[in-house]
Amino acid sequence: MEHRAQEVISLCRKLAEFTEEPGHITRTFLSPPMRDVHRELGGRMERQGMSVNVDAAGNLRGFYPARRPGAPRVIIGSHLDTVPHAGAFDGILGVVMGIAMVDALAARQMPFGIEVVGFSEEEGVRFGVPFIGCRALVGAVDEALLALRDPQGLSVADAIRSFGLDPARLAEAKLVESTLGYLEFHIEQGPVLENLNYPLGVVEAIVGQSRLRVCFTGKAGHAGTTSMKLRHDALAAAAQWIAVVESVAESTSGLVATVGRMEIEPNAGNVIAGKVYASLDVRHALDEVRHQAAELMLNRAKQIAAGRGLSFEWEQHLDQPAVAMDPTLVNKLEQAVKSAGYPVYHMPSGAGHDAMIMAQKIPSAMLFLRSPGGVSHHPDENVLVEDVQAALNAGMRFLEQWETRLD
Ligand code: GLV
Ligand code: MN
Ligand code: MN
Repeated sequence: MEHRAQEVISLCRKLAEFTEEPGHITRTFLSPPMRDVHRELGGRMERQGMSVNVDAAGNLRGFYPARRPGAPRVIIGSHLDTVPHAGAFDGILGVVMGIAMVDALAARQMPFGIEVVGFSEEEGVRFGVPFIGCRALVGAVDEALLALRDPQGLSVADAIRSFGLDPARLAEAKLVESTLGYLEFHIEQGPVLENLNYPLGVVEAIVGQSRLRVCFTGKAGHAGTTSMKLRHDALAAAAQWIAVVESVAESTSGLVATVGRMEIEPNAGNVIAGKVYASLDVRHALDEVRHQAAELMLNRAKQIAAGRGLSFEWEQHLDQPAVAMDPTLVNKLEQAVKSAGYPVYHMPSGAGHDAMIMAQKIPSAMLFLRSPGGVSHHPDENVLVEDVQAALNAGMRFLEQWETRLD
């Protein structure tokens, strides 16, 4: 497995070269480098006896058949898109792990098929809404989602068409009836496993998240001639509000909140900002706490805007509840980790994952691999070869447990 683990890492690093921005790893939903990733991974899948297709949401899907036709299937997957200036492992590691596990079967067939899925979109970068890829599998792509527009004015439906796919065929992307479960390998993206010196973590639950887009509208004006008293500065209002967001999060145990993106109009050094759009991302393990915090942040934004003679609007892009992983699969995964000789550690996930959407329809489980330095959404993101090996070993045990049960 050591050799295979090294190959997993090398392949992730190679795929990181497929990027929209030379010198950085940036690969958003249905961007041109996604096609290169499909070609590279699809070719590998085919060489391992899998049938390959790209569904209408742009998900790469490889199917390794069961011993007998008509048998149920297990899905192993994660996402192929990245945040801007990303690392080489968030998401894609889970897809490459699935392919490596099929490879490790060395042509042996199981009493179940194995579908490896590379989801087209999980990060929510291009359209401000995450999980577009896996939403197609659970049948949750609606007209409102298809109508969302990216900063260039293209809708999700346009993006699908310009990638050569047909939005009218989205229904065909849905999960087949006899899907037994979903397994996702993912880097932890935080420091917990490293601090405990554990290679792997069994995820118990994924925290909920709200994503919003807010807009402060004031009045643009001359930076030299408009006295301070007469201004309606949208950027000053947004700045004041961002500090409030931070302090609400700091004073609420377990809450994290982030304003990570802003668009400023007209965005010039000598013009008072007339309009500011900002993102808001709020997360907590308890949905009620998250809802209350988001509401408080919005109320404070309204007060700040009113106090400065500005208007304030907002729209909600995501209200994703916290999701527990399937207890039976969590138990199986725990047994698999133990029998492969590694310590078992249960933990929640603060990051969102495709598994939280897949869990709406099928039993789902996640295995975390330690993140060196706890670093993620950053070019320094890494994973250790021995941890990849541990995950492969545990993953194979996990499949073997299913084999014994279904044989
Ligand atoms: C996905 O990476 C997230 O933002 O949780
Ligand atoms: Mn991510
Ligand atoms: Mn991810």
